Amino acid sequence: MITREQSPVNLELPFATLDGFITPNERFYVRTHFPIPQLDTKSFRLKIEGAAETPFELSYDELLKMEMQTITATLECAGNGRAFLRPPPDATLWELGAVGNAEWTGVPLAAVLERAGLKTAAAEVILEGVDQGEVKQPPRPVGKIHYARSLPRAKAYRDVLLATEMNGAALSPAHGFPLRAIVPGWYGAASVKWLARILVSDQPFAGYFQTVDYSYWDRRNGLPMLLPIQGLLVKAEIARPAIAEVLPPSTKYRVHGTAWTSDSEITKVEFSDNLGVTWQCARIIGQPMRNAWQLWEFDWLTPAQPCRATLLARATDARGRTQPELHDPDFGPYLINHCLPMEVEVRAPARSPCATRSLTVETDARRVLHLPI
Ligand code: MTE
Repeated sequence: MITREQSPVNLELPFATLDGFITPNERFYVRTHFPIPQLDTKSFRLKIEGAAETPFELSYDELLKMEMQTITATLECAGNGRAFLRPPPDATLWELGAVGNAEWTGVPLAAVLERAGLKTAAAEVILEGVDQGEVKQPPRPVGKIHYARSLPRAKAYRDVLLATEMNGAALSPAHGFPLRAIVPGWYGAASVKWLARILVSDQPFAGYFQTVDYSYWDRRNGLPMLLPIQGLLVKAEIARPAIAEVLPPSTKYRVHGTAWTSDSEITKVEFSDNLGVTWQCARIIGQPMRNAWQLWEFDWLTPAQPCRATLLARATDARGRTQPELHDPDFGPYLINHCLPMEVEVRAPARSPCATRSLTVETDARRVLHLPI
């Protein structure tokens, strides 16, 4: 794993090592804002309170006795791909690997909400983690706060899992042991880890992690409005070749990666080696699964002449949504789903004197391709 930050711990999957549909637990990215709480199942309680007819508490054993479900879902950090932005934002510079796909087992949030009986006025369901700490960047509330995010009532009843297991094993401390939410189809920020309190609210929640942080500007009727980041935007990433990889000329190379979207399925992944002047269809591997990523591959014939080539992948989903060419500045350091340029070098390995040189990455690269070296 690539360590992006040691304290709090933030780890990224080296995306070039992607080798399957399921991301193994020890290779699944870790995104934390505060120190990881050390919790045990004996003293653990999940509280459901607020605008509910029957507020109650559940122990870990009581949770395990409820009907369990297993779903496959892709989590992507809303800042995944930030390292490609120019200028680079003052935030954790994730490259391609703050994303993963796992099987999650747990209790549907709907079952817990039904037992609590939501009042008619209930508008949102706030999920609060045990972890807490001080936010450093202003604007900020004073003192320690918990990590918390909310779901609109309708979303809370649909798909959301209170997960105890990841890929058939108990959650690890870094991934939210003993209990976390999994909100399929939404950016990872919504999937609150170390979940211990569900607060049903009759007001829209304007907490730190969905107003100051994890929000973006949306323009409707000419008015920019700050909205919490929610659904995943359609996106494809290239795992191999990796940035700066050296490839032999006139060779068939298997370009491969994954693509994902929300509440839909990937219908097309395209590949371009000329900055999007022309696109060719890649092969989608396996059957589509709602809210899980889709592997894809493309046999690329590398150029005959030594050059630098910028490779792009572009995904489209069944709702006709496709990736933009450029990042939307209103999204700030989040929602990075434009086609990411993967610059590689084509040359016979033995002939080059600059085998260790790395190539620069420019998101706004609109340069002549296949530069002779
Ligand atoms: N939940 C809590 N309690 N604290 C956190 O810092 N980080 C969120 C989310 N849930 C976070 C959290 C973010 S931003 C992401 S992207 C996902 O957890 C990452 O989940 P993972 O670390 O299991 O990959």
